[in-house]
Amino acid sequence: MSSLAKNYNRRDLSFNRGKGSFLYTKSGVKYLDFVQGIAVNSLGHTNPSLVKAINKQSNKLWHVSNSFKIPEGEELARKLTSKTFANAVIFQNSGAEATEAAIKVARRYFYSIGQSKKNRILCIKNSFHGRTIAAINASGSKKMTEGFGPKVGGFDHFEFGNHMDLKKKITSKTAAIMIEPIMGEGGIKVIPSWCLKEIRKICDKKKILLILDEVQCGIGRSGKFFSYEYANIKPDIVPIAKGIGGGFPIGAVLMTKKVSKAMIPGTHGSTFGGNPLAMSVGSAVMDEIFKKGFLSRVKSNSKYFISELNKIKSKFPKIIKEIRGIGLILGIQLHHDQTKFIDNLLKNKLLTIRAGENVIRILPPLNVKKKEIDMALEIINKVCNSYEN
Ligand SMILES: Cc1ncc(COP(=O)(O)O)c(C=O)c1O
Repeated sequence: MSSLAKNYNRRDLSFNRGKGSFLYTKSGVKYLDFVQGIAVNSLGHTNPSLVKAINKQSNKLWHVSNSFKIPEGEELARKLTSKTFANAVIFQNSGAEATEAAIKVARRYFYSIGQSKKNRILCIKNSFHGRTIAAINASGSKKMTEGFGPKVGGFDHFEFGNHMDLKKKITSKTAAIMIEPIMGEGGIKVIPSWCLKEIRKICDKKKILLILDEVQCGIGRSGKFFSYEYANIKPDIVPIAKGIGGGFPIGAVLMTKKVSKAMIPGTHGSTFGGNPLAMSVGSAVMDEIFKKGFLSRVKSNSKYFISELNKIKSKFPKIIKEIRGIGLILGIQLHHDQTKFIDNLLKNKLLTIRAGENVIRILPPLNVKKKEIDMALEIINKVCNSYEN
């Protein structure tokens, strides 16, 4: 009997080793891992550069208090700001902490300019921003908030894809709009560039902040460092996590100079956030992602993967409804519940994970090889065939 609480519906399967795109059980059974910790292991399992970075740092220094300067954190912050819209970074340890911090930064900004009544955050109904009390209330989903006490105030919601509703929900109390440019848990729903552009315009017109949650879709996952870059816009605040640690827990909130001014000493903190060990791994991830050709390979592999998946879809139109996603955050939407299909992929040693709207989520490492994509395609094709028969 496990002493772990039952908050996860875990499979009776465990692994004791990982290498690149593959996981191995204790008895040596090999699985093609296209979950990668849900978009966490951006460079696959036990990437040599990350192993080197963590080994090197673990022999020097693991943790010091944020009341001292941490050069490793300065370096990662410098890398993040030099490659993005941001001028300042606060480090955390997870995605939910990063989205919470993003909400705090937005509210504190308006407080700092004498507009403390502007404190409400407008989110998409049934979105996903993490599991803390504030984050579940930001999601506006009954499934996530049920049983967790009084609703936390300060959040409003609009319907996905409904700009009329979005405009209607903005009031004089709205501080920010917070959205995921690609809704991961929601079913790999990509918000089109024209829509992000329009939302940016609305934020400018109403003088409110734009928070783009890139926890799942950021750090190269879309083929660009941040997925919103396709829309050619600039956000005010961006929470990140998952991929930036390559498997080591890191969260962060990135922000412009304007809003960062509000975050004076004492306004936010984290014991573990920004520790030298985590920062060294994050820096190594950044170095790999910005190596010449890395992101263009994500794009070319994605193009191939999507076009091959669409061929399978045309062969099996009664099974597959739609191929979704960009970069290497992909989804196969089925006409029916996806549970059995995912089980069958697993039986064929391909690991995938569910998302909303009957979607099978596919999240290979960003450095996946074409022959590994081919292996996955063969298995997906085989499982479709077995349904047809
Ligand atoms: C868009 C988004 N935001 C926030 C989170 C929460 O991240 P974490 O589980 O690290 O708290 C997730 C996790 O899946 C996510 O996909």
